[in-house]
Amino acid sequence: MLRALFATALFSVSVRGNVQHAAPTPTAVCGQIAKAISSASAVFYPGSANYTSDNEHWMESSTQQSTCSVEPGTSQDVGTILKLIGSANVPFAVKGGGHATNQGYSSTSGVQIAMSRFNQVVYHASTSSVDVGAGLIWDDVYAALEQYGVNVVGGRASGIGVAGFSLGGGYSWLTNQYGLTIDTILAFELVLPNGTVLTVNSSKNPDLFFALKGGYNNFGIVTKFTFKTFPQSQVWGGILVYGGDQLTAVNNATAKFADQVKDPKAQIITTYNYIGGAPDVTQLLFYDGPTPPAGIFDDFLAIPSFLSDISTRSFLSLVQASPSSAPYGNRAVFNTVSLLKITPQILDSIVNETVSWGAKLTTATSGIVSYDVEPFLSTLFSKGSNSAYPPDRSRALLPLNVYFAWADATQDNVMRAAAVQSAQQLTTEAVSQGQNIANLGLYGNYAIAGTQTSRIFGNNLSALNKIKNQYDPNNLMGWTGGWRL
Ligand SMILES: Cc1cc2nc3c(=O)[nH]c(=O)nc-3n(C[C@H](O)[C@H](O)[C@H](O)COP(=O)(O)OP(=O)(O)OC[C@H]3O[C@@H](n4cnc5c(N)ncnc54)[C@H](O)[C@@H]3O)c2cc1C
Ligand SMILES: *[C@@H]1O[C@H](CO)[C@@H](O)[C@H](O)[C@H]1NC(C)=O
Ligand SMILES: *[C@@H]1O[C@H](CO)[C@@H](O)[C@H](O)[C@H]1NC(C)=O
Ligand SMILES: *[C@@H]1O[C@H](CO)[C@@H](O)[C@H](O)[C@H]1NC(C)=O
Ligand SMILES: *[C@@H]1O[C@H](CO)[C@@H](O)[C@H](O)[C@H]1NC(C)=O
Ligand SMILES: *[C@@H]1O[C@H](CO)[C@@H](O)[C@H](O)[C@H]1NC(C)=O
Ligand SMILES: *[C@@H]1O[C@H](CO)[C@@H](O)[C@H](O)[C@H]1NC(C)=O
Repeated sequence: MLRALFATALFSVSVRGNVQHAAPTPTAVCGQIAKAISSASAVFYPGSANYTSDNEHWMESSTQQSTCSVEPGTSQDVGTILKLIGSANVPFAVKGGGHATNQGYSSTSGVQIAMSRFNQVVYHASTSSVDVGAGLIWDDVYAALEQYGVNVVGGRASGIGVAGFSLGGGYSWLTNQYGLTIDTILAFELVLPNGTVLTVNSSKNPDLFFALKGGYNNFGIVTKFTFKTFPQSQVWGGILVYGGDQLTAVNNATAKFADQVKDPKAQIITTYNYIGGAPDVTQLLFYDGPTPPAGIFDDFLAIPSFLSDISTRSFLSLVQASPSSAPYGNRAVFNTVSLLKITPQILDSIVNETVSWGAKLTTATSGIVSYDVEPFLSTLFSKGSNSAYPPDRSRALLPLNVYFAWADATQDNVMRAAAVQSAQQLTTEAVSQGQNIANLGLYGNYAIAGTQTSRIFGNNLSALNKIKNQYDPNNLMGWTGGWRL
């Protein structure tokens, strides 16, 4: 943000001697882009429907009003756009599915690049792989692959963008079986800051291949991902909602699942919410097969629920079963804690955080306070290697997602400060319970803006900086927001 403000102030007018020259502004660059791009691409201005959708996000609190938006339609045009932005030095943003909760990560007051025209899904049965355009959401990919009986390791809720998710790591319903999404990437099509279009894979460009797996928008703009595909049958699961009177039973079932279930096809997310003056739990269950073996989910199914949507269904239907946006306002913050174990003690602490912050924050703001508990197997990181994230694959990091939402923009600072404080409190409590988590890597797709980049990349930070300096010597990508190197 500071960088963006500085940029606008510095470059709107440049003074040489006594003569003032109009230097490139975002407005001027928008005009240059419009002239230079092919007919596959287009520039839009405030007032047009495309401008609005190009700037739109999952939550309005992530959105800014850009000077113009551009929808590139070819990788060559992406290169042209980057070169023009680079010679003008104006702020810009790259948006995939627009699910980043940090403002400025895929929004800008300058040039908004919306990737929506990269919308192809091309399945290659002979190599068990699929090419996916960087403008798609996972729903589109699951829907396109269903007819072939295969799937990719992608998002667990509806509406999430392929691009930001895959450039940050990617925790999927299929992760216990096949790894993070980055562990299933075969190649990236990348437009470098100097406009060169590269196909990056593990043998041709091992440095960039490592860096893009978790390194976000530091190396250029990705236009296409090639993912491994896996056979996909019908799955079982969906959503249950429990009342606040069932918290102890839910904690018991969650801690037991985390401790005892080793079947990699089984996964859960237990979400503790506080809304409308009371706690409740959203429970997601997943089994990668039409019927789960007896025993695995019995405890959850035995707890009385006031809403239940559990069935044998398509993968897409399961992903779309959980609500993707909610009626508690259009402003949100994410934050995260990496846990080593889901114990009864840490679940008690999480319930306490839910209730105490919920009571404090949700009444005045008509908002929600929510904590996602995500147990994965201890083998979580064993399916892949050498990536920007996680900084260390020797043990599983279980990402807790702190999620607060509200409606009133005057509460932004209060809610964000609370999300920071609550993550700190949970870290302190986990440490006092014997979980040595104070310095563990944090998941960038859940982390709040202001988190130190070294917490996300750990010991890989220096290797990443070297790669960044090689491919982006002028720091063009420094003119956009995100987890900057
Ligand atoms: C409802 C919801 C559910 C979620 N569920 C999960 C989950 O199950 N598992 C999980 O791991 N995470 C999950 N997340 C987090 C998710 O991974 C992040 O929000 C992610 O950033 C979304 O990607 P996007 O493309 O939609 O985001 P965007 O906001 O479009 O982009 C995010 C970042 O990626 C950069 N970027 C986007 N496209 C490109 C590109 N083509 N080239 C270079 N950089 C690019 C952007 O500049 C930005 O910095 C969830 C988030 C939400 C809101
Ligand atoms: C605007 O966006 C829509 C849908 O995203 C697209 O079909 C249409 O072609 C775009 N309009 C222009 C003028 O490019
Ligand atoms: C990487 O790409 C090159 C050139 O297309 C190809 O020859 C090579 O087999 C690819 N390597 C992998 C591991 O995909
Ligand atoms: C939860 O587990 C504890 C300890 O095993 C047990 O005493 C208690 O009865 C359980 N409560 C519920 C509601 O399942
Ligand atoms: C409950 O959470 C609040 C807010 O973080 C904290 O101040 C308090 O100490 C916690 N209480 C217990 C018993 O953990
Ligand atoms: C990234 O960090 C891990 C763990 O410290 C290390 O094993 C790996 O070699 C690092 N990768 C690079 C390219 O530096
Ligand atoms: C762009 O950068 C790449 C990687 O540094 C380099 O190989 C290539 O020659 C550059 N292209 C131009 C046109 O400068």
